[in-house]
Amino acid sequence: MCGIVGYLGTQNAYDILIKGLHRLEYRGYDSAGVALVDNNGQLNVYKTKGKVSNLEDYCKDKNINGTVGIAHTRWATHGEPSDKNAHPHYSQSKNIALIHNGIIENYLSLKTFLSSKGYVFKSDTDTEVLVQLIEYMMNEHDLPLYEAVYQALTQVTGAYAIGVIEKNNPNELITARIASPLIIGVGKDEFFLGSDASPIVEYTKDVIYPEDRQVIRIVRGKEIEIRSLDNKSLIKPEVKQIQLSLEDIEKGGFEHFMLKEIFEQPKSLSLCMNGRLQREQKEIILSGIQNYGERFAKARRILISACGTSWHAGLIGKYLFETLCRIPVDVEVASEFRYRNPVIYPDDVLIAISQSGETADTLAAMELAKKQGAFIYGICNVVGSSVARLTDSGTYTHAGPEIGVASTKAFTTQVCILAMTALAVAKQMETISTEDYKRIVTELCNIEEKIETILSKTEEVKEISKIFTYARNFLYLGRGFNYPVAMEGALKLKEISYIHAEGYPAAEMKHGPIALIDEEMPIVVVAPRYQMYNKILSNVVEVKSRKGKILAIVTEGDTDIKRLADYVIEIPQTEECLSPLLTVIPLQLLSYYIAIAKGRDVDQQRNLAKSVTVE
Ligand code: M6R
Repeated sequence: MCGIVGYLGTQNAYDILIKGLHRLEYRGYDSAGVALVDNNGQLNVYKTKGKVSNLEDYCKDKNINGTVGIAHTRWATHGEPSDKNAHPHYSQSKNIALIHNGIIENYLSLKTFLSSKGYVFKSDTDTEVLVQLIEYMMNEHDLPLYEAVYQALTQVTGAYAIGVIEKNNPNELITARIASPLIIGVGKDEFFLGSDASPIVEYTKDVIYPEDRQVIRIVRGKEIEIRSLDNKSLIKPEVKQIQLSLEDIEKGGFEHFMLKEIFEQPKSLSLCMNGRLQREQKEIILSGIQNYGERFAKARRILISACGTSWHAGLIGKYLFETLCRIPVDVEVASEFRYRNPVIYPDDVLIAISQSGETADTLAAMELAKKQGAFIYGICNVVGSSVARLTDSGTYTHAGPEIGVASTKAFTTQVCILAMTALAVAKQMETISTEDYKRIVTELCNIEEKIETILSKTEEVKEISKIFTYARNFLYLGRGFNYPVAMEGALKLKEISYIHAEGYPAAEMKHGPIALIDEEMPIVVVAPRYQMYNKILSNVVEVKSRKGKILAIVTEGDTDIKRLADYVIEIPQTEECLSPLLTVIPLQLLSYYIAIAKGRDVDQQRNLAKSVTVE
């Protein structure tokens, strides 16, 4: 959802800003822009519709000098993707330029007010209102830039991370945040802004994570000045070290981030389980559960709230907690949960799941449950994100940065955390026998190796994918733990290949979707050999009788479904409750190769952005 970058220092800002935009492009890519103050006191803004590479072309014959600048890559909310709606936005006099990630909720009333004062708006965005308001504050109250930004922000409601520069002030860069991510990199005589650490890590590991409601003034040759938006008190900057390396955010020889991240899953699961899964002792130690296990044990109910892929992981969480812990679980899409006045008890535990930790609806669901006294447990990848800050306790997935817009390693690490959490709680509550516990934990120890086995069949999946590129619709079927996997497989396919796909509980097929089946229709059946195997076998027969084309994901050595299916991908045997960690891998690969065969832009699909920070 929009990426912001900023630089103030001794180097030419343009190159650093453009490189930063490329690294943040996963956040939005419908337009991009840059603003620079050059050595002659000119404030130049260049912006274009389309990707960052368009901006680079556009800037080829432009004056790109300057050691201070801001830049933006956009995912449109207010105003369609266009040159005029791209950021940075100028103020009326063109003395100030501003970039913004977030949403100004009261922009209409501010716009009416500013229009009455003679301000003319050139874009359809909410953001332009803020830069005009800053100029109004400067002119009306004779304030310097920092004071004007501060005063303007006291009038604004919404979410934002902003960067502001001024024509007459090439030594100053102002930034602030509420509910949108912002990191400040501190180098030698230079400072960097980023929506995440990726534009910064190449230059410095020293960073400041501004808190919500802080306004920050960066002045060349001086210490950073941070003030609270509430009472203007001075806050001492706390410099931390980022753990990220350049390798983590580059493609590392893969054609796309999505493919890199699919192949990273054995490693990301290892990192996820590191220090938590005690391989020798066959034990799981989760500090969140050690400290707050009682809260789970006494829970009247667990609520799980999330969006998209994280919601699918949550659906698997329901099977895990109900099976292993015998605690009732409701799984809720966060956007529905937050608005339907749900019944929440103070002895509920709400598990919020989010890769980015920024998803607006998930955050709102957490706030709602928190207000009503529920205990909030977070499962999240991005350290220090808003989700992480809002929880009472939780566990990071430690999947490493996920840059491909389609979630892959985020899903498997979320399911892994849910499985470890359910096992740890079940052990504490004694709802699982020691024998079952040890057996499942032993299987967790083998899971990375089994994923490697599936990844070694990539060529097989690639061949099968070629057969299916003609299809305009797909049906994905699964049962039990693998019904959410069917939904996840369908989501992966539709978001990157633009083929319509639906994920269904296999038996539900007879209540409608079966009408769609003909010889044109591919049906992906997730059918590893567990207790529901015979039932799903019958579903496969039903599909076959209607001439559907069947691709089945089956357990190694299966012969029954093999006889019926047109194509088969085998996965190693594992515990049923862990099987989603394996069954999802061929589905990720299938969607990737179908999208490639159709010539789609796999990492940057149309209309999508990595994190959805507006509702
Ligand atoms: O960052 P989050 O996990 O909160 O994001 C939620 C969804 O937007 C996300 O899972 C989305 O569905 C996936 N990127 C799809 O692959």
